[in-house]
Amino acid sequence: MSFSFSITPLSGGPPATNPRRGSSKSGSRKSSIDPTKLLRMDRSSFVPGDDKFNILFIGAGNIMFGSPEGPWNHSFRLEHKLGPRLKVVALVDPATERAAAVLQQKCESFVKSAYEHTRVCKDLDEFVNTMTKEEYPKAVIIGSPPMFRGSTLSGRDIEVQILKKFPGIALFVEKPVATGPFEELKDAFEVAKAIDSSGNICSVGYMLRYLKAVQMMKKTIEVNKLRVMATIARYACAYESIAKPDWWDKSKSAGPVIEQGTHFCDLSRYFGGEVDISTVAAHSLEWYEEAGKLGGIVIDEEKIEPENRIPRITSATWKYESGAVGTFTHCVVLKGHDYSCELEVFADGYQMKLVNPYVQPVLHIRRPGSDLEETYRFPDDDPFFSEISVFIDNIEDIEEDPETATMLSSYEDACKTYELTWAIRLASEKSRKSYQPPAQA
Ligand SMILES: NC(=O)c1ccc[n+]([C@@H]2O[C@H](COP(=O)([O-])OP(=O)(O)OC[C@H]3O[C@@H](n4cnc5c(N)ncnc54)[C@H](O)[C@@H]3O)[C@@H](O)[C@H]2O)c1
Repeated sequence: MSFSFSITPLSGGPPATNPRRGSSKSGSRKSSIDPTKLLRMDRSSFVPGDDKFNILFIGAGNIMFGSPEGPWNHSFRLEHKLGPRLKVVALVDPATERAAAVLQQKCESFVKSAYEHTRVCKDLDEFVNTMTKEEYPKAVIIGSPPMFRGSTLSGRDIEVQILKKFPGIALFVEKPVATGPFEELKDAFEVAKAIDSSGNICSVGYMLRYLKAVQMMKKTIEVNKLRVMATIARYACAYESIAKPDWWDKSKSAGPVIEQGTHFCDLSRYFGGEVDISTVAAHSLEWYEEAGKLGGIVIDEEKIEPENRIPRITSATWKYESGAVGTFTHCVVLKGHDYSCELEVFADGYQMKLVNPYVQPVLHIRRPGSDLEETYRFPDDDPFFSEISVFIDNIEDIEEDPETATMLSSYEDACKTYELTWAIRLASEKSRKSYQPPAQA
């Protein structure tokens, strides 16, 4: 893909307003992407230019620097997208030793120039109070745990703080937007309003939307002018490989539907549209029920308060505002490493089945004219690169290519996915049999 550019040099202070700049609301950009335009990282070239591209990282964890659990690693994709222009001005993380360790690794590698002047700060204020004019960030990548963000409450309002301290900055925020108590859901929508009225570019990390297979499904719907009638989603994680105690604790992660199933609830919404939240119904298989006993948990679940332990199965149905029906089942059931996930989308005469989107996406399409399914494979597709690539292209305002898409997940839209996942959790808790502690001897 070749682009020509219009770059706003950043020499301190907010970037000058560029009237052609894209935003999540821009009318000129498409809300889907031609799947043939989604390039693998090794087939795309970095965005050239002489100016530095300052980025602020919030969180020094797995999503930023990678982990054996999966292919995520934003720093790696940014290095490729921006090449020598990338300057990570600061890494904000209260775990300063972890931050220093990852930076040291980077500085010992060929991407040293992006990190050799990166400062480790224990919080945002430390960076703001010590920042030089040259360090003013053009973009921020927020990859801290969701329990510390997505709110307007002090200490968990990093998005709002960033908007205040760095006018014009582009935000990339990891999913889910928050995991605070349900009562604070409205606060996440307040954050969405603040981002929206700032006009700043913002993208949320629902990277499955950027899969070539997903964009091919979108294209099939668009080209054939289909109306989605049903979405059927199933997400079975390999629980044996999940070693983070917080993930197993609803008071920390808000539970597996909100923390993890969110990806498939989001994809369901991407195809089905707005959900009528009042229709959400759900059931769960809980840890204390006979069928819910698991033999391969690698953390000590006994250390988690009984009321905070997570369900093994959660199954939900709902109506979309269009009248279509959605169903979603999340399973904490598989051992080993790979997840088993499938999403089916039905429309008049059409069945589109997305299989294994995390590992090796396969798309089966049955369409009018034949009972046989067509099968498409997408080797080496990298949605993590595509989401970062589109984010940077929007910041750089690469508009000469009319096919450049807008970010596929806005903060407000991500709040709606968050709302759906909370509705599923609450509905399943309402319908479950309550826990009876064993009688004392
Ligand atoms: N899209 C995906 O597939 C995907 C994959 C992995 C993680 N994620 C998301 O990324 C986010 C982070 O997950 P992770 O796996 O990197 O977690 P992690 O636990 O590996 O790292 C989180 C880091 O944030 C730091 N931190 C804690 N509080 C902070 C604060 N207030 N400010 C700044 N840093 C803070 C922690 O010290 C830690 O170093 C989560 O929202 C998670 O759902 C998404």
